[in-house]
Amino acid sequence: MQNKKKIIKFYKKNGYYIFRNYYKKSIIEEIKNYIFYISSELYKAKTHKKIIKYDPKNFDYYVLKSKKEKFSDITSSVYDTCKKLPIFYEIISSKKTLNICKNLMRSDKLGILNTGYGFRIDYPKDTYWKARLHQDYSGQLGSTNAVVIYTAFDSITKKKGAPILYSGSHRSGMFDTDLRLKEVKQKKTYDPYHVKIKQRELNMFKKIDLVLYERDMAIFDFKLLHESGHNLSNKIRWSAIHRVFDLKHESAIKNLFRGGMNEGNFFNKNKKTHIIKIKNAK
Ligand SMILES: [Fe+2]
Repeated sequence: MQNKKKIIKFYKKNGYYIFRNYYKKSIIEEIKNYIFYISSELYKAKTHKKIIKYDPKNFDYYVLKSKKEKFSDITSSVYDTCKKLPIFYEIISSKKTLNICKNLMRSDKLGILNTGYGFRIDYPKDTYWKARLHQDYSGQLGSTNAVVIYTAFDSITKKKGAPILYSGSHRSGMFDTDLRLKEVKQKKTYDPYHVKIKQRELNMFKKIDLVLYERDMAIFDFKLLHESGHNLSNKIRWSAIHRVFDLKHESAIKNLFRGGMNEGNFFNKNKKTHIIKIKNAK
C-alpha cells in the first residue's frame, strides 16, 4: 500500500513511472521467438537461403538483414504481423497492468485505444520514424486522461535512442500545435504535428532518458512531452506500445470515445472539441 502511494505520488508529479522487471521472462522469450519465426520465414520464402538456428540473442537477425538488403516488403510485414501476436494481446489485456492504470488514472472505466497499439521497430540511424517532440494526446486523442504503456522486451539504451521524457511537462496541459503536412508529403517524417514551445520553456523540464531493460515496463501520461532519441547503435531499438484512456473523462465523451489520426480524427481540426483546457485535465 505504501509502495502504491509512492508510485502514484511520483507519477502525479513527474508524469511517468518505470516498473523494473515487470514482465515474466516467458513473455519476453515468446515475443522474441515469434519475431524470429516471422522474419526468418519471410526471408527464406524470398531468398530460398538456408536459415540460421534461433538463439534469443539473434531474434532480430533477419529483420535487420532484410532492412540492410532493402526488403521493405519483409520489414513492413514483420511490423504488421507483430500486431497479430496473441502474446501481445495478453500484454494489452493484462488485469494487473489495467489495475495499475486505474490507480494512476483514478478511474474505474478504461478503454484501450484500438488503433493505438503496436511494436516500434526503430532502425539504426533512421530519421523518418523518429518521433519528434510531442504529446500522445495530439495523435491519439481518446482522452486527456490517458497513458502510454511501454513494454521493453529488449534493452532500450541511450545509444539505441531511448525516448526522452520531459518530466513534469504533463502538468502544463496540452500545448498548441502546428500541422506541418509539407514535411509529411516530403517524406521527412510521418508525424504532421509540431509542438509550439520555445526552447527555454522546454528547458524548464528535467530531461529523462527512458532507459529500459528486458522485462521493464514504463507508463507515462498522454500529456507528457517526449521524443525519440536518435538510434546511433547498429541494433534495432524494439519496444511494444499500447494506450489506455479514461472513459469517464469529459474529453473522452466530447471526443465520442474516438481515437486520433488512425481513426481519421485530427487534433487540430476542431479546436473546440479537441483542445481541452488545463483546468479540465485530471
Ligand atoms: Fe509518443
